[in-house]
Amino acid sequence: MALSLTVNGDKRTIEVDPDTPLLWVIRDELGLKGTKFGCGAGLCGACTVHLDGQPVRSCSTPLEIVQGRSVTTIEGLATDAGLHPLQKAWVEHGVPQCGYCQSGQIMSAAHLLANNPTPLREDIVAALSGNLCRCGTYSRIIAAVESAAVDGASESTRDGA
Ligand code: FES
Repeated sequence: MALSLTVNGDKRTIEVDPDTPLLWVIRDELGLKGTKFGCGAGLCGACTVHLDGQPVRSCSTPLEIVQGRSVTTIEGLATDAGLHPLQKAWVEHGVPQCGYCQSGQIMSAAHLLANNPTPLREDIVAALSGNLCRCGTYSRIIAAVESAAVDGASESTRDGA
């Protein structure tokens, strides 16, 4: 079955079973490998992307409900002006250790800052509570989000998430 969606601003038509998880389409059909498979059950947050500006677990999102909608992945967060402030902050703070969970962390943080440009520490902790990091980089993640908030990340999100 042919299903259409917009991914990082580009309209795409995919021939897949409508039950296929969005994560499979992103990685295997579109070759966007920045979004990761962790638990496959909606529990770890590694697969987080934006769907019409809202964070979703792409491992648990069937393509049939994505039909006609807009998806933003970590590859779509930067703009022609450069990296998203969160991506810059991640580099400046040396956040990643193994790196596996980090794109999901950033996508959740981008949604937070778009909706709350000046979050308190507890707001950041709450917003990212569904994104697990087995390396324990949480303190650097929080510092990077605080830093990006100061740099105006909310103004730089392509999908307004
Ligand atoms: Fe989707 Fe863990 S891989 S939530």
